[in-house]
Amino acid sequence: MYVRSFADANGDGIGDLAGIRSRLPHLKHLGVDLVWLTPFFPSPGFDHGYDVADYCDVDTAHGTLADFDDLVTEAYRLGLRVMIDLVPNHTSSRHRWFQAALADPTGPYRAYYHWHDPAADGGPPNNWVGHFGGPAWTLDQVSGQYYLHLFLPEQPDLNWTNPAVADEFDAILRFWCERGVDGFRVDVAHGLAKDPWLRDNPVLQPLTAGMDPIAAFAAFEHRYDLDQNPNVAIFRRWRRVVDPYRAVLLGETGPHDPVRLARYHDEGRALHLTFYLRPAWMTWQPMQLRDGLRGVQSLSPHSVAWTIENHDTDRAATRFGGGDTGRRRALAVTTFMFGLGGLPFLFQGQELGNENGLVAAGRLADPISTRNPGATSGRDGSRTAMAWDDTAGNGFTTGPVAWLEAAPRDLADTVAGQIEDPASWLNAYRRLIKVRRQHRDLVDAQARWLDTDNGLLLALQRTSVLVACNLDGRPADLTLPSGNWALVFSSAPDSAATIGTDLEATVTVPAETSLILVAG
Ligand code: NOJ
Ligand code: CA
Repeated sequence: MYVRSFADANGDGIGDLAGIRSRLPHLKHLGVDLVWLTPFFPSPGFDHGYDVADYCDVDTAHGTLADFDDLVTEAYRLGLRVMIDLVPNHTSSRHRWFQAALADPTGPYRAYYHWHDPAADGGPPNNWVGHFGGPAWTLDQVSGQYYLHLFLPEQPDLNWTNPAVADEFDAILRFWCERGVDGFRVDVAHGLAKDPWLRDNPVLQPLTAGMDPIAAFAAFEHRYDLDQNPNVAIFRRWRRVVDPYRAVLLGETGPHDPVRLARYHDEGRALHLTFYLRPAWMTWQPMQLRDGLRGVQSLSPHSVAWTIENHDTDRAATRFGGGDTGRRRALAVTTFMFGLGGLPFLFQGQELGNENGLVAAGRLADPISTRNPGATSGRDGSRTAMAWDDTAGNGFTTGPVAWLEAAPRDLADTVAGQIEDPASWLNAYRRLIKVRRQHRDLVDAQARWLDTDNGLLLALQRTSVLVACNLDGRPADLTLPSGNWALVFSSAPDSAATIGTDLEATVTVPAETSLILVAG
């Protein structure tokens, strides 16, 4: 969940831990096991919490450490696990370490960050660019040196070759493990280590004035700033800290290539799980989706966290074509992901089939938008408040306005509008989660891809269960392995009547639909 936008208990328009606690029954009812909370630590908020000023406290906007303890206690009472978001690539520029680094260039905190003299022409030390626009280097006028930031200038990158930084993070991990968290989502896990020689990244396309920051970032091959081999050793070290607590490390890992991604798992010695984020960035591209899902699943099935949307991407229903078409496709892909092993995630509001929220141009809050006029890649659309009901503020806040002001959602797009309706998206996702709980072979039995002579029809058998996904715009026939197969879930709307029916030797998978079958 995106903490700022899930539930606001005190009416100031900003989501908080007390609000989350009061809404945990929704997660329980939906059937989820685990909740990942985005950062709630003290932060000046230049990147809405991903600029952390103190790793071991709670921002007053979200509550207190006591509220966090109450939230964890209540989550456990309901049988939910809690994962928090650790941001080790960069701190806030307001963090005391960076303030000390600025104040004393000869002091011990200087080497917590990457400082370099200007290039011969006085410009930045190399050609690296930030994810949110502009160069990845900012000049400190006082010392005459540049510091590195792969995101905003207010998010200076930590220097992970400094053993003191590693020690600090061991202590931070331990602090939260002692408070009972079950795991950490590791922000920008592929970014921590940098090329020791700071070589220029190869240029793929020339930069043009006014280029969208995401396009500008993609104009380089990130050979030297991201996905460096020494990242893996950092996570092997972390395992020594978290393993005694049985806490889980889940990386936000950027690589789309299955082989590069699997390095972070290191056969169980480094990150327990890595997000496979390519599907979360895709529009409706059936071939690419097919190749990606198959490739990653076949390589390291149990270490992948699957998702098609999060707080950084447009919502899947929007990207996949909008309206009911987009919603149906999103449920179809999610259904298939529920059969791939590993750990599937839903993003708040995805269970309602929500499309992007509508934020007026003058109200945009994401720095991608506010700092790059005209940029189209801003992330506010997925960050608007959770739609609980159709009262003012959609039940998110009792205050006059949410921090990110957006057009209200219709009753049909809210929890209240869907909860009693068996044909709603909410109840479809709820049934899907239940099926995954009931049929454990879906999660951990040996997986075998079936030959389907249709390139857009994917079918995976895991002993007693079979999950099929037809990414084609036309129905497709699937020949079933021998056995008595029954349908237990279909992502197609109006499928209720077919659930539980025994199937013939061939089943027709409707267009852009996934089915889950169980052998009797
Ligand atoms: C990934 C996070 O999900 C995103 O929201 C954030 O802006 C960047 N990392 C930088 O921390
Ligand atoms: Ca609040």
